[in-house]
Amino acid sequence: MTEKQAGQTAMIMAYARAYHATHDSPKIFDDFLADALFTPEEHMQTDRDWANLLQYSHPELAATHPDQETALAWVVQLGSGPITLGRSRYAEDGLAQGLSNGVSQYIILGAGLDTFAYRRSDLVEQLRVFELDYPATQEMKRSRVATAGWSHPANLHFVPVDFTRESLVAALGRSPYDPDQLSFFSWLGVSFYLSREVVFDTLRDIASIAAPGSKIVFDYLDADAFIPEKASKYMQQMQWIAAQLGEPMKAGFEPQFLAADLDCLNLYLEENLAPSDIEARYYQGRSDRYHAVEHFHFAKAVVR
Ligand SMILES: C[S@@+](CC[C@H](N)C(=O)[O-])C[C@H]1O[C@@H](n2cnc3c(N)ncnc32)[C@H](O)[C@@H]1O
Repeated sequence: MTEKQAGQTAMIMAYARAYHATHDSPKIFDDFLADALFTPEEHMQTDRDWANLLQYSHPELAATHPDQETALAWVVQLGSGPITLGRSRYAEDGLAQGLSNGVSQYIILGAGLDTFAYRRSDLVEQLRVFELDYPATQEMKRSRVATAGWSHPANLHFVPVDFTRESLVAALGRSPYDPDQLSFFSWLGVSFYLSREVVFDTLRDIASIAAPGSKIVFDYLDADAFIPEKASKYMQQMQWIAAQLGEPMKAGFEPQFLAADLDCLNLYLEENLAPSDIEARYYQGRSDRYHAVEHFHFAKAVVR
């Protein structure tokens, strides 16, 4: 993934969270600050562009000639929205549990436009937050934060990194991260853009640099997502678009082997949610079009 493209995927995810926070109820994940990261001009342009996407993603719905507002809602609810909302909720639910068990550091790998540190100023005394991402994505974020008029939280540390070029141990070594403190890591929307080797190296680094009992949550694609006969139509569309952009999705994992894979890295797989589990936990009973996305799984692992 190039840095330029990476910043774009971060913006797409944040825009979907912003849309959900300002339009939908009940909330799956309430990122009430995300909206302010975009200018009114970007809102106007993105709403129009995303609404137009309906004719490619769901031509049968586009054939009903919805107005722009409805087309936009369908594109978010059937596309980018459920990719980001469930996993962000999963991460922050896990963190909340960790906080009551003594977690004092939250490390967000591939943070993109995550607003946690700005949203949760109530935790400034209790929790140190580390955001790791490409330098260019962090620059883009800093500039949006400045435009939004937010001040930099005292407990937030930006750590620029390229996971394919520098180890997590080395990157965190340049920051005030304390390996002796109980930590919580999240790694959302990144694993499938990296090779299996880089994913495992990074997870191994977490196991080596975090205190026992520290946890990591991440989302991953199953191996079926990469088998054309087994991949859903939506997954094939996503992969086609990613490949056209020169950013192929690279790695998937067999859910049934993940526990053994992580065990070799000194991590215990505490939870491994399939799309059906995610649907039951976060999407069941809604009257809109949000549903868990096929092939996307959530994992939570503990450092031994
Ligand atoms: C799809 S976005 C997800 C952002 C955020 N976690 C979210 O859920 O909204 C992927 C993020 O990972 C970052 N990323 C991708 N590859 C990376 C790499 N090799 N090194 C550092 N960051 C990377 C991108 O810059 C981007 O912010």
